[in-house]
Amino acid sequence: GIELGKLLAQTGYITYDPGFVNTGSASSAITYIDGDQGVLRYRGYPIEQLAQRSTFIEVSYLLIYGELPTAAQLEDFTQKINRHTLLHEDLKRFFDGFPRDAHPMPVLSSAVSALSTFYQDSLNPFDEPNVELSTIRLLAKVPTLAAYAYKKSIGQPFLYPDNSLGLVENYLRMTFGLPAEPYEIDPDVAKALDLLFILHADHEQNCSTSTVRLVGSSEANLFASISAGIMALFGPLHGGANSAVLEMLEGIKADGGDVNKFVERVKNKEKGVRLMGFGHRVYKNYDPRAKIIKQTADDILRKIGGGDELLDIAKALEERALSDDYFVERKLYPNVDFYTGLIYRALGFPTQYFTVLFALGRLPGWIAHWREMIQDPQTKIGRPRQIYTGEKQRDYKPVSER
Ligand code: ACO
Repeated sequence: GIELGKLLAQTGYITYDPGFVNTGSASSAITYIDGDQGVLRYRGYPIEQLAQRSTFIEVSYLLIYGELPTAAQLEDFTQKINRHTLLHEDLKRFFDGFPRDAHPMPVLSSAVSALSTFYQDSLNPFDEPNVELSTIRLLAKVPTLAAYAYKKSIGQPFLYPDNSLGLVENYLRMTFGLPAEPYEIDPDVAKALDLLFILHADHEQNCSTSTVRLVGSSEANLFASISAGIMALFGPLHGGANSAVLEMLEGIKADGGDVNKFVERVKNKEKGVRLMGFGHRVYKNYDPRAKIIKQTADDILRKIGGGDELLDIAKALEERALSDDYFVERKLYPNVDFYTGLIYRALGFPTQYFTVLFALGRLPGWIAHWREMIQDPQTKIGRPRQIYTGEKQRDYKPVSER
């Protein structure tokens, strides 16, 4: 395929494929998806098994290094991450510069970008020990940054990480804890978040991961590339869909809870009205992640409470859509984000913050792809071609003659 591509480029042929619907941009050994069958595997392991039996930290290791860790490797990896959770005090001051009601995604992206100014040893992407250090720094510090983005938005003081805790527990404490008060971690909440992070950890060449790889293909460092990926995730057609789903459900509730009325608006293709959390470029079947989340949403919401009415609307909406020709013909099924927002909401996160949780989950996948890309001898700078549709050559006129 690569040789044929090179040959075609030499002869001047260009493949026109807007949105890269059918263009393979990389070869990758990380994640396998069969969109027709609804199959997802990380490094060969079915997502269902990982969701049921693994942990986010283990899955992070698996994605980045290719194998599940031994007990000693897991211990070492966990300890390394724990040692790097603190932020430089100067970096904390960045948060003062953002307006309090700032959306947390650009705040997170800016802070991650700023990490490369604090760790200038990260600038050479071929310096393997430093790539390793940047990997650990990102896994350790992004949860701290994400927690601080939240604290900033509600005007509460930042909490230093408590490294006796696990990754998810530490993040929950920094997010919801208060300095002078003990914070009791609810194991159900920690387990739910860990599960959601596992389900979001990688999804091969999606928009944000492709962005990370594209930026990295210019040999930009890991922090810079991940910062760009966070911004790609921000959009409502990608990671931003989890917030958009909740806004949609709230809107339906406020409008009397009539899912039929909403579905008709979607089918009439009213401008800006889509069934958020439905449809996927690759899955033409039920998203296996959504299946797991739907199964657990009931359970989690029952345990920790909240969001039941919106869950009922979501289920009614799904049932209504899946029995409608519009959705059946187009093979539109719930994707990962259809039910996640309800869980995030029940865990206490504000709607605007949901996409940050997606970013925390996707982080190991982005890192794994960047590292795979930088080590791949086939990698070239990403540089798509175009079909030019502009003016033919014409002559410049001075402004007095225009
Ligand atoms: N609601 C209504 N109609 C839809 C939806 C939807 N959610 N998704 C696709 N369609 C329709 C399109 O209008 C189009 O219909 P047409 O053939 O009559 O024009 C057809 O289905 C094909 O859709 P495309 O937009 O061409 O599909 P594409 O692969 O480009 O888009 C996407 C995929 C962006 C995910 C789309 O399904 C969508 O916008 N979904 C809603 C947003 C969302 O949930 N995003 C999260 C995706 S998963 C993730 O990133 C985590």
